[in-house]
Amino acid sequence: MEQQYELYTSEDREVWKQLYTRQHPQIVQYASQAVIDGMEQCGFRADEIPDFRKVNENLSHITGWEIYAVPGLIDNKLFFENLALKKFPCATWLRTMQQLDYLEEPDMFHDVFGHVPLLTNHEFTGFLSNLAVIALKNIDDEDFIERMSRLYWYTVEFGLIKQNGVLKAYGAGILSSIGETKYSLFSDQPKRVPYDLHTILDTPYIKDKYQEVYYVINSYEELFASIENYSESYV
Ligand SMILES: [Fe+2]
Repeated sequence: MEQQYELYTSEDREVWKQLYTRQHPQIVQYASQAVIDGMEQCGFRADEIPDFRKVNENLSHITGWEIYAVPGLIDNKLFFENLALKKFPCATWLRTMQQLDYLEEPDMFHDVFGHVPLLTNHEFTGFLSNLAVIALKNIDDEDFIERMSRLYWYTVEFGLIKQNGVLKAYGAGILSSIGETKYSLFSDQPKRVPYDLHTILDTPYIKDKYQEVYYVINSYEELFASIENYSESYV
């Protein structure tokens, strides 16, 4: 399927504008520098719903990744096959005005605003590709895929990073949530522990509420190295 750009309504444009306008200042203040830089490189703006063709034009010059339109969540095999080919799935539809604060299913704001900025980062995307390649080798092993989903969840969706001694967010689940951005960084309820791949593989995750534990990386190089080492020891 393709993004039908001309079919976006004035409500869609208003939803994008409001979500962007509320969340962008939090990104500037609380997101990892790589996310802030990536958002700029992708050319996101409040008054323009991102056009996938333009996003891909930008990404192609930076990391060679691209996004492709999907109706919603897709099956694991297709998801990992495309990730291994540097293709990231993004929904094209937007939530309604009544759903600004919370939505169960990932929409375009989550997928594009949340995920795409880090597709400009070489170490992060290297981590993503490696994760996909390892998952694909074990695609029929349900238990293994569940463990890979945990790794994805606690990094790509809900990861934190220590940057110059200051905690910042990089996970898309955090970056696309107006409430969880501050919660993940400042609330005294969740635990924040150093990133450890093997601990994460053994830690089930919860959906539909704020996380109880966040794993903190020191750099995207650390993330990349962890999966490189894992795939060497595993294969
Ligand atoms: Fe996501």
